[in-house]
Amino acid sequence: MQLLIKRDILFEQLSEPVFASGRLEQLKEFTQHGHCTCYDHSVAVAKTALLFSMVLPMHFKQKQLVRGALLHDYFLYDWHTYRPEKLHGFSHPYAACENARRDFDITPLEENIIKRHMFPLTPVPPKYRESVLVTLADKVCATSETFTGIGEKIRSSKKLARIGRIPHALAHVAALFIAFLPWT
Ligand SMILES: [Fe+2]
Ligand SMILES: [Fe+2]
Repeated sequence: MQLLIKRDILFEQLSEPVFASGRLEQLKEFTQHGHCTCYDHSVAVAKTALLFSMVLPMHFKQKQLVRGALLHDYFLYDWHTYRPEKLHGFSHPYAACENARRDFDITPLEENIIKRHMFPLTPVPPKYRESVLVTLADKVCATSETFTGIGEKIRSSKKLARIGRIPHALAHVAALFIAFLPWT
């Protein structure tokens, strides 16, 4: 619990300049997985990656880690309705990076976090350990959000109400198993 409080304090400090400029607020308008918005997803990925960096026995550049994570899905469109030229799964890291470059002064490390977060769906692997953390955090969060969304759908169905009482924790357990599979 102490660790989560520490993480949240550090997150507030590191993320404040990112929230203070740019268009992160717009991410609240777009759904990502289940009922989760792109904004909530991006915050969850940044907090998860930051937590990983606090427990692993290596040094991480936490400021750039948080900035890159917050901007990793900064593509600023609704991927359920907008159809980019190339499939969203492959193209959105580049759209996010272009927007991030326009709105922020991003470093090569932050750029790598954004561009490579869909590995192994996109074949070029992350170059920095911070990029690897965000790639893993993204998969953990995306899987958890998707399972939670499915759980909510089941719970709202009268026929399937009993099955819908699957505890939320189960979604997280499943997320950890699935997190290491290729994610679209
Ligand atoms: Fe993404
Ligand atoms: Fe993501």
